[in-house]
Amino acid sequence: MNILFLNGPNLNLLGQRQPEIYGRTTLADIEAMLRQQAAKAGVTMDFRQSNTEGELVTWVQQARGAFDVIVINAAAYTHTSVALRDAISAVAVPTIEIHLSNIHSREEFRHRSLIAGVCKGQIAGFGENSYYLALQAALQLKSA
Ligand code: DQA
Repeated sequence: MNILFLNGPNLNLLGQRQPEIYGRTTLADIEAMLRQQAAKAGVTMDFRQSNTEGELVTWVQQARGAFDVIVINAAAYTHTSVALRDAISAVAVPTIEIHLSNIHSREEFRHRSLIAGVCKGQIAGFGENSYYLALQAALQLKSA
């Protein structure tokens, strides 16, 4: 099993960016912990971040045939990107939407996710644990 973790804009700043909302753990820390857990579970993974919408769209497109599950924290593009939604629909690779913060308890513009309707489900509000919960969900999707 091969899982693709995608991270959208500004997530490269995790650790320094609004720590009261996003915590002090860096994206590199999250990747390292995920790699440990993935290895334990016997699965391979790729972990990428981009500040560019088009690059994320291209990575989603390229996932077909290469990855079994996509886990995506689309960050601000969650709320704006029809292109990302269309890419997720087009590739038909089961996709799990995640967020560190609970987007439903924040500003109203964050309540709407344009990608939610084409994802298997959403995990939001558990800080860095949202990533580990998504890994568990991905493992179960594959075995289901
Ligand atoms: C986020 C929530 C988004 O609303 C925000 O734009 C982000 C991060 C999260 O992980 O909580 O950049 O996706």
